[in-house]
Amino acid sequence: MSEATVQNRAPAGADAPRSIYLPEPATLVDVRPMTKQEKFFRFQMARAEGMKYMPGQFAEISLPGIGECPISISSSPTRNGDGSFEMVIRSAGAVTAALHRLSPGDRVGVRGPFGTHFPVEDEFRGKDLVFICGGIGLVPVRSAIHYVLDQRDDYRKITVLFGARSPEERLFIGELYDLKTRKDVFFQETVDVADPTWGGNVGVITTLMPQLRLEADRTVVIICGPPIMYKFVLLELRKLQVANRNIYVSLERHMKCGVGKCGHCQINGLYACQDGPVFRYADISSVREAI
Ligand SMILES: Cc1cc2nc3c(=O)[nH]c(=O)nc-3n(C[C@H](O)[C@H](O)[C@H](O)COP(=O)(O)OP(=O)(O)OC[C@H]3O[C@@H](n4cnc5c(N)ncnc54)[C@H](O)[C@@H]3O)c2cc1C
Ligand code: FES
Repeated sequence: MSEATVQNRAPAGADAPRSIYLPEPATLVDVRPMTKQEKFFRFQMARAEGMKYMPGQFAEISLPGIGECPISISSSPTRNGDGSFEMVIRSAGAVTAALHRLSPGDRVGVRGPFGTHFPVEDEFRGKDLVFICGGIGLVPVRSAIHYVLDQRDDYRKITVLFGARSPEERLFIGELYDLKTRKDVFFQETVDVADPTWGGNVGVITTLMPQLRLEADRTVVIICGPPIMYKFVLLELRKLQVANRNIYVSLERHMKCGVGKCGHCQINGLYACQDGPVFRYADISSVREAI
């Protein structure tokens, strides 16, 4: 593993839970439906200092008697002065369906934050940033987008490309509109399949990429989306001559412990929970089955 990847790990210490195995209590303070499958959640830790995390990290959320699952943190530390944190959860199985049945005031267990984060404070600074997000891939990247927008002067051109399968599956519709109307952001979106409400671009996310005018040597690209998306986006980035060291990907694998002990998330020697989920593409481009 490269030194760069290690540097992206969150420091142990104040940010780490008392025991990596012990869920700490948190209260659900807000929950709202977003689409047919996804709900927005805001949690508040019981501990006074709240959750301390960086964009791109995840936490294990548990319900006693049901189970535990890893979920990305979607809010930015620049916006949660009260120590709360936001998530978007798709109902996929036992734990996520039970989380969808919760109401404000209900309690969950939280372990984390875990994993590497986007290097918003070092490699991203002074660069042109291009965020390429597909579907629920917007969720962890939203944290980094909010972070850089809140420190706008520290970064150069900001581009956001977003693709959803259909208009009704678009997440954070109000925030997408804000991005579209901001003068200091270049925002484009597309849907795979339109409906009568949709007047925008139709096609997969790579159909937006020919519009990109990049200065490859000062551009960092961030990709998060369904597995199939990475391959095609990376092919387009190669045409645009973006170097692998300037590409960051957030990868999902089946996880259990979240802390590098069980091996469930292994990608040919790398642990997605500890070496990732955020990887510099140059560090994994030759790792079989990583992408
Ligand atoms: C680092 C990380 C971040 C994640 N962030 C989010 C998030 O922000 N929002 C969200 O809704 N989900 C997220 N997930 C996926 C989420 O963890 C799974 O949907 C959840 O574990 C399913 O648990 P369950 O008990 O509800 O369903 P299960 O019955 O355990 O699984 C339901 C279905 O989902 C599949 N599944 C489970 N885990 C994964 C996975 N990691 N990748 C792909 N398919 C999976 C199973 O194979 C099964 O088909 C993330 C996963 C990881 C590893
Ligand atoms: S989830 Fe257990 S080692 Fe990664």
